[in-house]
Amino acid sequence: MNLNFDPKAKKASATGPTSEKVLSVHHWTDRLFSFRITRPSGFRFRSGEFVMIGLQGEKKPLMRAYSIASPNWDEELEFFSIKVPDGPLTSRLQKIQPGDEVMLNRKSVGTLVHDALTPGRNLYLFSTGTGFAPFASIIRDPETYEKFERVVVTHTCRDVAELGYSKQIVDETLNHEFLGELVEGKLFYYDSVTREDYHRTGRITTLIENGDLAEFVGDKTFDPEVDRGMICGSTEMINDTKEILEKAGLTEGSNAKPAEFVIEKAFVG
Ligand code: A2P
Repeated sequence: MNLNFDPKAKKASATGPTSEKVLSVHHWTDRLFSFRITRPSGFRFRSGEFVMIGLQGEKKPLMRAYSIASPNWDEELEFFSIKVPDGPLTSRLQKIQPGDEVMLNRKSVGTLVHDALTPGRNLYLFSTGTGFAPFASIIRDPETYEKFERVVVTHTCRDVAELGYSKQIVDETLNHEFLGELVEGKLFYYDSVTREDYHRTGRITTLIENGDLAEFVGDKTFDPEVDRGMICGSTEMINDTKEILEKAGLTEGSNAKPAEFVIEKAFVG
């Protein structure tokens, strides 16, 4: 990682897809992989946004929405993907190799962005599976630590191996030559698994309700005055976590109307 990329560079006016080069691919498990591609000059985005990416099809490109996992200062673009055996795109995308071409749309959008939240003290980022991707971007963005005193990123997966990507991103961020100092004592990783033994087991909803998360942060959860949230995972996970935040008095925000928490469905197909 380096912090040389200028996110304020002029946004490209073209909106059609560009062809970008695959730089590296990492297979975490038989279900999850991450990869990095070139970032076209002038491609601007807000940390936490998603973009359409894909592969050239027989007639037209096959594109799907993917959260950008890299922060907006990074010179390259990173993505974290599931592998769906019969998924039209991921069945092919999981086979990409460095040097291959990936199509990238020019326009990024999304609600998991700072602009959609009102100011607060603690930022909770709740994720399951590939829902960690937008948070890999947000926890590596210095703006996050200017806006919040404490950032708690939760990641729940079926088994320990599936936490590999988030664990590495958090470790790299804590040890990064510039970010390390900024995030020290502010960034907290709360990981759990649901289908095997681990130091912490259970769904995030259970761990909130049984008080384990509150004990971890050493504070009451959640207070609409100071706590802000972002949720990314399956539809059911989003709905269940959203219900907990709403019961605590937090309201859902958007780019047009910032409030106390925001949601977005993780890529599934
Ligand atoms: P579980 O193993 O109990 O289903 P997936 O890989 O299927 O997307 O799941 C990722 C993680 O999200 C799993 O640990 C899964 O737990 C958890 N999960 C699934 N549904 C919910 C829900 N409604 N609320 C919270 N966590 C959920």
